[in-house]
Amino acid sequence: MKNKEPLIAVVVIFFSLVTYYLVEPYAHHVLHKEVISKNFAYADLPAITKTGDATRGQELLMGAGACVGCHSIEVAGIPATMTPHDAAAAYGVNPPDLSNMGVMYDEKFLADVIKNPSHAMMNEHMFDAEKGLMHPMPPFYGAGGDIDQEVADMVAYMQSISVTKEDVTPKMAYENACGRCHALEYEKWTQIGTHKNFKDKKDDLAYQIDFIKYKESITGFMGKLPPDLSMYIRSRGEHFISTFIEDPQAHLPGTSMPRVGVTADTAEKVIEYLKDAGDTKRVEREEIGQYVMIYIVIFAIFAFLWKRQVWKELH
Ligand code: HEC
Ligand code: HEC
Repeated sequence: MKNKEPLIAVVVIFFSLVTYYLVEPYAHHVLHKEVISKNFAYADLPAITKTGDATRGQELLMGAGACVGCHSIEVAGIPATMTPHDAAAAYGVNPPDLSNMGVMYDEKFLADVIKNPSHAMMNEHMFDAEKGLMHPMPPFYGAGGDIDQEVADMVAYMQSISVTKEDVTPKMAYENACGRCHALEYEKWTQIGTHKNFKDKKDDLAYQIDFIKYKESITGFMGKLPPDLSMYIRSRGEHFISTFIEDPQAHLPGTSMPRVGVTADTAEKVIEYLKDAGDTKRVEREEIGQYVMIYIVIFAIFAFLWKRQVWKELH
């Protein structure tokens, strides 16, 4: 009798590969559009051509720009004017603190968002001045001088007060860029801050009420409640999340999630934070994985030798 084993092996391998292809790359490709990263270059936005003056920028942020009417700047000792849920009732969402935006966000994005928020955030489709639907952050029309110079000054001020890139932690990146919209239950993060363990039940209930109010406001503004991101790193993976942050419209045309304008470095930190939250055993698993692979290889060698031994006499 001819040895049919190689043929059987080829058939098994062939069908395994076809099945794998249909389940993984093919199904993936059909379900998710492939979006290629542009390395957070924001090539659609114009570069800043003027050299900014931080001192002048500070005056503008506090004065004509009216930024501090809505945004806190904690490092400069400027607190929020409202609680997060009152701010959300007024603007739909709590305006983020500006302390470290100068480093965490792309400077072209910052300049554009000051001049035209919904353009930079790529959600112009949500607003219509004729119907009275305006972006909650008003565009800056200039303080009487050269508007490009004024905007460059404000960006320079934000850059001057920020911590350095190296000092931005994953938690800071997440809370600043995503935290006003997305809860992260695994880290006890809610859109109004970290959920503390209150000793007094009344304090907890008061907190819950504020939280419910916040969720109602943001749902009204965004059209739906932004999802809790605890499990997204597992269900969607790193590549999806990174390209989604860079350009939400490329994945979900018409979505209300704004382009947040973070740098590539900040996006990496956000993803690191999501990994730490959603996949706490990942480091251990990767280590164990190596040993399992070594075990399987050794086991396969023994199995093969054993099979040869057993069949030697029968062939
Ligand atoms: C009337 C309130 C208001 C004023 C005034 C205002 N902002 Fe905002 N700003 C907001 C709100 C609300 C958001 C969040 C919008 C969103 O998430 O969709 C925002 C978002 C931003 C963002 C983008 C954050 C991100 O994640 O993409 C930056 C940067 C910013 N503001 C800077 C400024 C600066 C600088 C000024 C002054 C020139 C200013 N804002 C004036 C309300 C305001
Ligand atoms: C101003 C609010 C806002 C901010 C800021 C924001 N998001 Fe979102 N996000 C949304 C909304 C709204 C949706 C739901 C979009 C939809 O279904 O159209 C969403 C959806 C998502 C999804 C799910 C996409 C899917 O396919 O279901 C992910 C992942 C996500 N956001 C990640 C992030 C990350 C990471 C950040 C911070 C870098 C961030 N978002 C910042 C509002 C926001």
